[in-house]
Amino acid sequence: MSDDLGRVLVVIPTYNERENIDMITSRLRAAVPEAHILIADDNSPDGTGRRADELAATDDHIQVLHRLGKEGLGAAYLAGFAWGLERGYGVIVELDADGSHQPEQLPLLLDALRDADMVKGSRWVPGGKIVNWPKSRELISKSGSLWTRMMLGIPLKDATGGFNAFRADTLRGIELDRIASAGYCFQIDLAWRSLKAGYRVVEVPITFVEREYGQSKMSQKIVAEALLRTTWWGMKHRSGQLRDLAAHARPGKNKARIGKNHHELP
Ligand code: GDD
Ligand code: MN
Repeated sequence: MSDDLGRVLVVIPTYNERENIDMITSRLRAAVPEAHILIADDNSPDGTGRRADELAATDDHIQVLHRLGKEGLGAAYLAGFAWGLERGYGVIVELDADGSHQPEQLPLLLDALRDADMVKGSRWVPGGKIVNWPKSRELISKSGSLWTRMMLGIPLKDATGGFNAFRADTLRGIELDRIASAGYCFQIDLAWRSLKAGYRVVEVPITFVEREYGQSKMSQKIVAEALLRTTWWGMKHRSGQLRDLAAHARPGKNKARIGKNHHELP
């Protein structure tokens, strides 16, 4: 398939990424010059938003969405997606500001999107790698993905991965306005919704490089949210499957009963 996917918007959420914002935008501009960039900043105290404005002033491919305060990565992405969908972008990409997702690998995701509706950059498929990630994070990520696979019965190896590309139509088809996930389970939420809606979700191997500057916003609260939500979705999913099974068993019985009650002729 070689259809034109349309204009590409890369949304970069930022909270205190002053030391990374120049690096990530310049690498992205060099790697995929035609892509447009939207920096979704939550009023970072370190002045990331102000620096983003300076970058936007000198480059018509960079725009800034200033948000009032820290509301989590999910809310920043949702605002960025809405911004991009309103403006008719054909492809919307999620990318961290800290260099963990390498802009140089974005063409791999965009290529794969020609045959998919959502592409996930994946650390845990063959060819995927991690660089400088603490063992503790690796363990959380792998067990999070395993738990998600078990609860939801989905085939994804890297369910929480945050380097993702979507066709605009996929984002239009998954009821973004009903998403409540705030932290990293936002990524699971997007993939889960896409799969449930029947979209093709494909994983491509990436090399995830731990940040050199600034700090991760990962917290116990974020892990707990992901655990609770995936467990809840899994329980709803499983009980739905049981209901479907029961409903399948019923029509035969109903027919028999109706037949008897109405004394239908054989
Ligand atoms: N606007 C905004 N508001 N941006 C935020 C917020 C927020 O509240 N919290 C985090 N970000 C931005 C960061 O500035 C960074 O650009 C990006 O979101 C990712 O945040 P990190 O804090 O660097 O995440 P991480 O490295 O711990 O986690 C990464 O890997 C996870 C899977 O292991 C992310 O890619 C997660 O999305 C992913 O689930
Ligand atoms: Mn990071």
